[in-house]
Amino acid sequence: SAAEKGGYDYFMLKEIAEQPQAIADTLRGRLTEHGEISLDEVRLSDQDLRDIDKIFVIGCGTSYNAGLVGKYAIEHWTRIPVEVELASEFRYRDPVLDRSTLVIAISQSGETMDTIMALRHAKEQKARVLAVCNTNGSTIPRESDGVLYTHAGPEIAVASTKAFVTQIIAVYLVGLHLAQIRGIKYSDEVAAIVDQLKATPDAVAEVLTTMEPVRKLARDLSGSQQVLFLGRHVGFPVALEGALKLKELAYMHAEGFAAGELKHGPISLIDDGVPVVITVPSPRGRSLLHDKIVSNIQEVRARGARTIVIAEEGDHAVEPYADHIIRVPRTTTLLAPLTTVVPLQVLACEIAAARGNDVDQPRNLAKSVTVE
Ligand code: G6P
Repeated sequence: SAAEKGGYDYFMLKEIAEQPQAIADTLRGRLTEHGEISLDEVRLSDQDLRDIDKIFVIGCGTSYNAGLVGKYAIEHWTRIPVEVELASEFRYRDPVLDRSTLVIAISQSGETMDTIMALRHAKEQKARVLAVCNTNGSTIPRESDGVLYTHAGPEIAVASTKAFVTQIIAVYLVGLHLAQIRGIKYSDEVAAIVDQLKATPDAVAEVLTTMEPVRKLARDLSGSQQVLFLGRHVGFPVALEGALKLKELAYMHAEGFAAGELKHGPISLIDDGVPVVITVPSPRGRSLLHDKIVSNIQEVRARGARTIVIAEEGDHAVEPYADHIIRVPRTTTLLAPLTTVVPLQVLACEIAAARGNDVDQPRNLAKSVTVE
């Protein structure tokens, strides 16, 4: 009913709007006054965590994409090697694990069969398993050595939104906690990240107030044959997530690519008018990354693409090559996925609606895949 949807047309729109709250709830009580991380629910001793020399992150669908984002941050903060793998691949191969391997199993529902089987596979080899999960008492946290709950609240729409951003937050908290207990001296950068994490609910709320042009753009794009998504660094998994949302909801061909791979294949897909969505990292910070992507935008536009650029406020370098610019507040590179994914969610939702699809219950998909 309309009341259940809180006045929104779809559960998905309601859940997109709940993201600032979901992030705040997932952070609550986990960042101390002094910028330290406290994770009470992680039932692994500090000694266990100090001994970790390798991390696998496993998940399916959107949860896998959240894990990919996490890799960039955890390796950067902890210097522990991180591999991210689809649970359905991990479970059927011989990953190299032992008791000093940490496996982070990400799942909104806690009941995804492939992820359950992958975590059992990891436990057989004595790895420590930490669940990042949104559902209290579900199978994945019950079978894990520890759990860090995302507090996104119930997610009804099949396409995951608020679970995704809270999964990133949770994996980041794990990464910061590992850095802390392993005695890696907090650099100014990490201290700044802790402050900026606290500011993310407001940043996401700000993005949500500027979505009207995205809705208009969605109606414009609803007749397209395909949409491509490009990104670098953490913008790459955001591109994968943007494409996944569009496939799930709009039944449109959509692919996410690492922008550096363009010339190794994807650029041949560019034709007159093909929409290409590009997320641009901050020009402050990693400026090399920023400049590279600006030239990628230039390259696809020169071949006829219609460029839809997601860039932070004040980034004027993208303007000459952007057919549409969607602005997000200034943020540091590692936190950018939390804001840049929002317009991609809205875009997919509104394109699906414009095409007359069932936004909350897309064809052939299930919220929780409990069978093989
Ligand atoms: C299904 C859902 C996706 C979800 C994936 C993993 O495919 O439709 O939205 O990302 O399962 O689910 P999980 O509950 O394990 O996060």
